[in-house]
Amino acid sequence: MTLDLRGRHLLSLADLGAEELLALLELARQLKSKEEDKALKGKVLVLLFEKPSLRTRLSFEVAMRSLGGECLFFSPQEVGLGVREPVKDVARVIARHAHAIAVRTFAQGTLEEMARYSSVPVINALSDHEHPTQALGDLLTIWEVKGRLQGITLAFIGDGNNVARSLCLGAAMTGMDFRIASPPSYQLPAHVVARAQELAKAKGGKITLLQNPEDAVAGADVVYTDVWTSMGQEAEAEVRHRAFVGYQVDQALMAKARSDAIFMHDLPAHRGEEVTDEVMEGPQAVIWQQAENKTHAIKALLLSLLAPGG
Ligand code: NVA
Repeated sequence: MTLDLRGRHLLSLADLGAEELLALLELARQLKSKEEDKALKGKVLVLLFEKPSLRTRLSFEVAMRSLGGECLFFSPQEVGLGVREPVKDVARVIARHAHAIAVRTFAQGTLEEMARYSSVPVINALSDHEHPTQALGDLLTIWEVKGRLQGITLAFIGDGNNVARSLCLGAAMTGMDFRIASPPSYQLPAHVVARAQELAKAKGGKITLLQNPEDAVAGADVVYTDVWTSMGQEAEAEVRHRAFVGYQVDQALMAKARSDAIFMHDLPAHRGEEVTDEVMEGPQAVIWQQAENKTHAIKALLLSLLAPGG
């Protein structure tokens, strides 16, 4: 199937249909082993970031350039989205100059407003609510390493945050058994769980909310964690640190998963907090492959949005 996403926005992973998601991962796999083509020659992607980034920016820039396109990056200080200038004005100006806009921001509402006013695709490059391009690279990695997605058990240990939400939706759409262990006040929001449960029906996926990390990892194929304090939540760091005691992924917890389980982290990792150095550096970690795969997934996304079949 030629995946044609022209004219679409990607604000949530669930903006893709399940078949589109699988086709996108298939395309990413093909691109990974293919000679570069310059299908995006003459296309411009604007990156508008209100929070720091290493991997996501790197992935978008490398993806765009390797496909022959150009990137323009605007840092948090430069634009002042909604402060220096209304979001809707920024969206309309950029859309007159670029073929797509990747936005890293706080509120999901900012992305929604950008999308309402932009005549070119708006891509969520991380918001407080979701991190869809991360989930694309993650699913690609699981598929590569485990040979399938359907029926795979993924245990997410920690905060029901942006990364967990996109992953949960992606797991639901691909028929995975998604378990998340979080302290009571840090669980996935009910509306995300409800949406994921709805999506999971088609391929027999399962979503389970737990509190005990050991219950989540028992028999898991994939153990995943992310920081306890996300960007923008720095004032809550101390409270969160206390709430997440007992949620560290260490070797003892990994030993409760399947013996061939892999460890994943979207990075940056805080060694000694959500994960130990031993697990990060250990043989089960696939984090560097995972980081690289975000670029391949984003290449597939950009091609489908801007030059399907090209
Ligand atoms: N949950 C993290 C992900 C970083 C890529 C954050 O939002 O800071």
